[in-house]
Amino acid sequence: MRIALSFTTLAVVALAGSLAIAQDGPTPEQQAVNARQSHMQLYAFNLGALGGMAQGAIPYDAEIATSAAQNLVNLAGINQNRYWPEGTSSEDMEESHALPALWENMADYEAKHDALDQAAAALLQAAGTDQATLAAAMGAVGQSCGACHESYREPQG
Ligand code: HEC
Repeated sequence: MRIALSFTTLAVVALAGSLAIAQDGPTPEQQAVNARQSHMQLYAFNLGALGGMAQGAIPYDAEIATSAAQNLVNLAGINQNRYWPEGTSSEDMEESHALPALWENMADYEAKHDALDQAAAALLQAAGTDQATLAAAMGAVGQSCGACHESYREPQG
């Protein structure tokens, strides 16, 4: 019976542990900030490979360029409605770098997101052609990232 008892004890300890985790876990606001920042990191990861090829820093590869551009198109197409709950601006949370202006200009924010959508679609058409065509299509994508950051992302120190 000693073994059975210690299993029970273990189960109780494990349950208490998981309850503690649930209580200490990220708030819904922190989860939204994590999700949108992670999404941005995925943009940057894919754009980085394309930028490297456009600048000649890494060899042009039509297949890699096409898949990275396809990832950008797919990422831009993900519904982002739940990324921006009220109370998650840079003034509300230390870990957020989204300026309060974003919540006052949602329509403009969406227009800036649509610009990325369109630039990424054009990039996908160009990516598999050759290095020069890829490079020419990169400008509009970079500008669409930059335009939104300029308005709605805290300047990076
Ligand atoms: C429509 C607006 C918008 C567009 C388009 C946009 N971003 Fe962002 N980005 C933001 C905002 C707002 C933040 C700050 C988010 C926060 O800290 O909560 C951000 C943050 C980031 C970050 C920092 C993430 C972190 O870990 O803190 C990176 C990297 C980034 N963006 C890359 C990109 C790239 C690359 C593109 C283009 C392919 C892009 N973004 C397009 C609005 C945008």
